[in-house]
Amino acid sequence: MKFIIATIKPFKLEEVREALTDIGVRGMMVTEIKGFGSQSGHTEIYRGAEYAVNFVPKIKLEIVVAADMADQVIDTITKTARTGKIGDGKIFVLDAQQAIRVRTGETNGDAL
Ligand SMILES: Nc1ncnc2c1ncn2[C@@H]1O[C@H](COP(=O)(O)OP(=O)(O)OP(=O)(O)O)[C@@H](O)[C@H]1O
Ligand SMILES: [Mg+2]
Repeated sequence: MKFIIATIKPFKLEEVREALTDIGVRGMMVTEIKGFGSQSGHTEIYRGAEYAVNFVPKIKLEIVVAADMADQVIDTITKTARTGKIGDGKIFVLDAQQAIRVRTGETNGDAL
């Protein structure tokens, strides 16, 4: 299993959720966050100028899927969340060791 963490622009959430459920993603966590990437929250950086870091609101998605679905999830998020402008987000992929459905005790693939 893979644990996919993605940040996206907040207005893209509904479109991304719909695209992910269309490809068979059955669960996800959604959190409102603030963060910054390579522009430190600025739309422009002036070389040599001093600047403070600004935090920009984003949505964080956390999704655990079977390993063989991970590429499809990554592609779907990338295509759906992309505007082509800065701040479109990042996707990080980790290995997930275990999953357990609390109600039944099912594990791993059966728990997703
Ligand atoms: N290295 C990182 N580690 C953890 N979170 C990050 C990292 N880079 C970006 N993020 C998160 O992703 C959000 C969006 O980042 P962003 O899309 O601006 O990345 P970027 O590298 O600046 O790309 P772009 O140049 O397209 O803006 C940030 O607000 C932050 O929450
Ligand atoms: Mg950025």
